[in-house]
Amino acid sequence: MPREFIIIAGTANPDLADAIATELGMSAGACAIERFPDGETSVRLLESVRRKEVFLIQSLSPPVNDHLVELLVLADACRRAAAARITAVVPYLGYARSDKRHGRRESISGRMVADVFEAVGIDHVVTVDLHAPQIEGFFHIPVDSLTAVPTLCDVLHEKVPPGIVVVAPDAGALRMATDYAHRLKGTVAVLHKRRESGTGTQVTHLVGEVGGKPCLIVDDMISTGGTLASGIEALLKAGARPELTIAATHGLLLPGARQKLAHEAVKKVFITDTVADLPSDWSRLHVISIAPLIAGSLKRLLEHRSLGDLY
Ligand code: R5P
Repeated sequence: MPREFIIIAGTANPDLADAIATELGMSAGACAIERFPDGETSVRLLESVRRKEVFLIQSLSPPVNDHLVELLVLADACRRAAAARITAVVPYLGYARSDKRHGRRESISGRMVADVFEAVGIDHVVTVDLHAPQIEGFFHIPVDSLTAVPTLCDVLHEKVPPGIVVVAPDAGALRMATDYAHRLKGTVAVLHKRRESGTGTQVTHLVGEVGGKPCLIVDDMISTGGTLASGIEALLKAGARPELTIAATHGLLLPGARQKLAHEAVKKVFITDTVADLPSDWSRLHVISIAPLIAGSLKRLLEHRSLGDLY
C-alpha cells in the first residue's frame, strides 16, 4: 500500500506542478509563499504533511537563487512539520553547469547545491536531463535523472525529414545526440565548441557528414542561444540543407536567445515545459509537456517500482 503523499509547488513553475498533480488525480497542496519586505523568503504550509511523502516541485530556473532558497525553505518547513520523506522534483536543476573548477579559486557550485539539499533534509531528487551525468555523484541521496529524449522523439518522429543528421553542438551533448539518432534512425555529427565567455562561443571543428542534409541540433538547454547560433552558422557553412530543427529539454530562453535563433534556416524549435513563462507568440516554438513523464516516475516511486522503463 503506497504511503499517503502530497504535492507542494514552489513558484518557479506552478503550471507544470498542476499538470503533474492532475496526472496523478489530485491537486497541489496549499501553501503560502511570500517575501518579507527585506526580500527574505517566507513559507507556510496550509495543510498537514505529517507522516506523508512530500513531493516538492521546483525548477531552479531564473531567478535561480530565489527559486533555490524557496525550495530549501519549503523542505525545511516540511521536515519541521514531520513529513515522512521529502523528494525534491527539480525538472531543471540549475547550477549543474558548475561541475568542475576551470581555474584556481573557483567554486564548484553544483556540488555545493547538492550539499545544501541534503542539509535541509531532502531525501531524494527527481530531475530531467541533468547537464552532465556525473552531477548525480555529488549527492549521497538517490537521484533519478529522467530524460525527455523519448518524449521529444515521439513528436519529432513525424516532424523531421528522413535522413536526418542529429548534431551535438558540443562534445557534452554527444551522448544525447546518439540517443536521438538511434530513436529517429538518423546519423550523428558533432561540433567542437570553444566557449569564449558566458555568452559567446565559437565552433572550431565539425566531425560528421552534413553536406546537403537536413539537421536536428540537440542540446540539454537553450540559455542565451549562443551555442546554437554558432552551431547553425557552422552547419550552414559546411553545406547543410537550410532546413534545421532544434530540440532541447530546458528552454531557459534568456533575453536575446529568441533573436539568435530567428535564422530563416531554423524551421522548428522543440522544447519541454521544465521552465515556465515560455513565449506564446513564437510560431516556430513547440512546447511538449514533461508532466506525464514526471507523474509516471512519481507513481512508480510511490509503488516502489523501478523507473527503468522510463529511460
Ligand atoms: C553547455 O555545455 C550546455 O550543454 C549548453 O550547450 C549551453 O549551456 C547552452 O547555453 P547557451 O544557450 O547560453 O549557449
